[in-house]
Amino acid sequence: MKVDVLLGLQWGDEGKGKIVDYLAPKYKVVARFQGGPNAGHTLEFDNIKHVLHQIPSGIFRQDIMNIIGNGVVLDPITFKKEIEGLKSFDLDLTKNLFISKKAQIILPSHRLLDAAYEKAKGKDKIGSTLKGIGPAYQDKIGRNGLRVGDVLSSTFKERYDKLVEEHKRKLSYFDAVPDMIEQEKDFFEGIELLKTYNIVDSEYLINQKIRENVTVLAEGAQGSLLDVDFGSYPFVTSSTTIASGACTGLGVAPRNIGSVLGIFKAYCTRVGSGPFPTELNDEVGEILRKNGNEFGATTGRPRRCGWLDLPALKYAVMINGASELFMMKADVLNDFEEIKVCTHYQLENGDTTDHLPYDICHEEIVPIYKTFKGWNTSLGHAKHFDELPYELMMYIKYVEDQLGVPINLISTGPNRTQTVIKE
Ligand code: GDP
Ligand code: IMO
Ligand code: MG
Repeated sequence: MKVDVLLGLQWGDEGKGKIVDYLAPKYKVVARFQGGPNAGHTLEFDNIKHVLHQIPSGIFRQDIMNIIGNGVVLDPITFKKEIEGLKSFDLDLTKNLFISKKAQIILPSHRLLDAAYEKAKGKDKIGSTLKGIGPAYQDKIGRNGLRVGDVLSSTFKERYDKLVEEHKRKLSYFDAVPDMIEQEKDFFEGIELLKTYNIVDSEYLINQKIRENVTVLAEGAQGSLLDVDFGSYPFVTSSTTIASGACTGLGVAPRNIGSVLGIFKAYCTRVGSGPFPTELNDEVGEILRKNGNEFGATTGRPRRCGWLDLPALKYAVMINGASELFMMKADVLNDFEEIKVCTHYQLENGDTTDHLPYDICHEEIVPIYKTFKGWNTSLGHAKHFDELPYELMMYIKYVEDQLGVPINLISTGPNRTQTVIKE
């Protein structure tokens, strides 16, 4: 069976956690393929609200194997906290959680470097979550990183000390040489805990599942517009967030990728710095933030809000080869008399385009909008597509036609049950 990939088509926080949890019963394996504790995936069901950072969002479903893939950067401190946070749920994580030996480890000094680099950038800062993501991926690509499989080696501490020495040299350049005693204590406790879980050659495991015709869902983190190659560089994260990242992040061959499920909000948000052509710095943006409860699941920062950006979404659909789309948070637009969608950008030279310009960070882009009549009513407990308000159906139809890919799921609230499937 081929591996389906679920990923965000915007700047993250599209609702991936909710949908992976919702779809999980269709799958036997859920695997994270990139990112790390910068992710915050929220799940809501049975009066429970839970945010996952590194552990895949299939974890609450019995009998599903959850894999943290080789493309992930794993922080043992966050891992320990996440495991503790799951204790009350009576899940046997030693049975259904598997961690790739090849996943990279985030050290406390990676976090310190992240903070030092951001501080040095001043007003040009990325707006990183400061979880050590960039420095950990730098060490991976620079061939200096420590991997989860290394924790089983007798020389782990020695190699850790060597890498920390190198980090301290870098930190001294920023006058930021730290006292890490407390963090190191937590770190090594996290490492000890990690050793009690299934540390595996996850690429063998997943390929065995593929051969056995078992259903696998690859869970993306962040969003396509934060991709290190195709996002709004340099205001991006440090991993491949698009569908091809599932191949390198899990060891799955391209011919074994099945459906690419792309999810997007009915509007747009972004957290951190960087270009956002349809951002609304006005009352409307405030209403979106309030109605959508748009505050970061990892950092609590207010998310920047704006109208749906079709040129950016078309681009994301293209680079991912999305085969199906899911529209999230339609309910957040319930109170609007009018809803806008950006169809084109006007560039500084007066040209209009529906392509994403190369220099989106420096070019002054003016969005050109098409206005829709709002449905201006609650979506209540709509269970079927034909129970949705006419204006919402028209909105969906327009976006679908523009993107050329079917929108097969509409999310009408944060709970698992608030989900409408198109038959
Ligand atoms: P993720 O990072 O893509 O998993 O998304 P986050 O969990 O960071 O952010 C999505 C937020 O929207 C969470 O608070 C979800 O509970 C919430 N959410 C998801 N789907 C819906 C929806 O359809 N409507 C509303 N109102 N909230 C939703
Ligand atoms: P999920 O999986 C939204 C953003 C940060 C910052 C930039 C780089 O929950 O959708 P990093 O910490 O990676 O160095 O930050 O990327 N960012 C996210 N924004 N959702 C996320 O994850 C994000 N992970 C990172 O805000 O702008
Ligand atoms: Mg999130």
